[in-house]
Amino acid sequence: MIQRPRGTRDFGPAEMAKRRKVEQAMRDACARFGFGEVVTPTFEHSELFTLRSGQSIVDEMYVFRDKGDREMALRPEITASVIRFYISDMSMHPKPLKLFYVGNCFRYENPQSGRYREFFQLGAELIGTKTPETDAEVVALAISCLRGAGLEDFLVRIGHIGILKSLVRKEIKDEVVAAEALRMIDKEDWDSLGDMFDAKALPRKLFDKITSIADIKGSVDELNNLEDSEPTAHLREIFDTLRLYGIDDCQVDLGIVRGLDYYTGMVFEIDAPRLGAEKQVLGGGSYTLSELFGGEPVFSTGFAIGIDRVLLALEKERPIDVRAPLDAYVIPAKDDMRKYAFGIVARLRSQGLKADVDLMRRTLSKNLKYAFSAGARFAVIVGKEEMAKRSVTLRDMKTGKQEVVQADEIGKTILRSPDS
Ligand code: HAM
Repeated sequence: MIQRPRGTRDFGPAEMAKRRKVEQAMRDACARFGFGEVVTPTFEHSELFTLRSGQSIVDEMYVFRDKGDREMALRPEITASVIRFYISDMSMHPKPLKLFYVGNCFRYENPQSGRYREFFQLGAELIGTKTPETDAEVVALAISCLRGAGLEDFLVRIGHIGILKSLVRKEIKDEVVAAEALRMIDKEDWDSLGDMFDAKALPRKLFDKITSIADIKGSVDELNNLEDSEPTAHLREIFDTLRLYGIDDCQVDLGIVRGLDYYTGMVFEIDAPRLGAEKQVLGGGSYTLSELFGGEPVFSTGFAIGIDRVLLALEKERPIDVRAPLDAYVIPAKDDMRKYAFGIVARLRSQGLKADVDLMRRTLSKNLKYAFSAGARFAVIVGKEEMAKRSVTLRDMKTGKQEVVQADEIGKTILRSPDS
């Protein structure tokens, strides 16, 4: 038997119903914030990602040569594609440009719960501005997506890459060492960072300064422990604007560095603490990518939500409630009622109900069993007597209650029942 590739999943109808419900709630949030949807290719020239996405992502990319000997990559994320699209087709659009996307991404990682080789993101990019209120708008949208999906237990941490990145880049001249240091800071791997400082004879004072900045976490007042600078003023304004949106439970976290290399200003992450190791459900921040791809410099802020992790987190809070897959399952009691049954199912479908009919010529009792296991809310039983009176027996599959209903009243009766 051919197995599916490691780190990938198949999703059946029951799982997809939950995923689509959660995804739709997040799409609705994007629409409420004035974001329009875009779709970009699943594979791109690998250069799009190698230029700036950071070594860790590049190491995890699925890269292949196509038949024209071009090096291609399955997208590990979608931000770079959106900016490429913006430069080629949308740079003349009025600013700011608000775009969102939903799609699959591929990273060659070690699979575990919440970490896959193919996973799904919903992301948003606000292009053309770098004000603190832009950043606040993007954070507010991220929160609205998660709340709209029904998630209650999550923590929003906001930092500014400028503070640690500029310090490291200024004090550590060797770019490779600086990038390695930032990666260790991102992972809060202080032991390895300390070892590297010793091995490279870097000043201990710098190490202490880095750890004390990365340690600034908590309420926005924690920023008072730092000297005022452009980044701290920017962060304060973001928190002020969020308060105007009614959001006052975000935390400052200056230890956020982020694995992707393109960030330049505010960075933020959202964790769902119930998830354990893979608890980060969202990552984002402000960045400039366009000049790298040959466009005019343009500031953007965005985020991507790990849809798979949001579903896992939601299910840790409570079961995800979805509508029954079928409203009605029409059962002809005998063969000579079959034609009548097809007329009924067609009418129910035309009324917008999810309706199905026996296709296997089974007995009434087998059909009732099937209706139950298929999750139908009602069985619509067509017997000889009912057919003669142009009626049916409507059986509520949950309670077992039955009533005789006129054929042209079935749809209305089902729509009136509480689950509709
Ligand atoms: P990222 O932090 O690499 O950022 O990914 C965003 C989210 O995708 C993560 O927080 C996580 O929930 C989910 N994710 C990442 N890798 C996996 C995986 N292997 N399996 C399951 N879920 C995963 C970005 O991708 C940036 N493009 C975000 C962004 C948009 N920044 C600015 N605009």
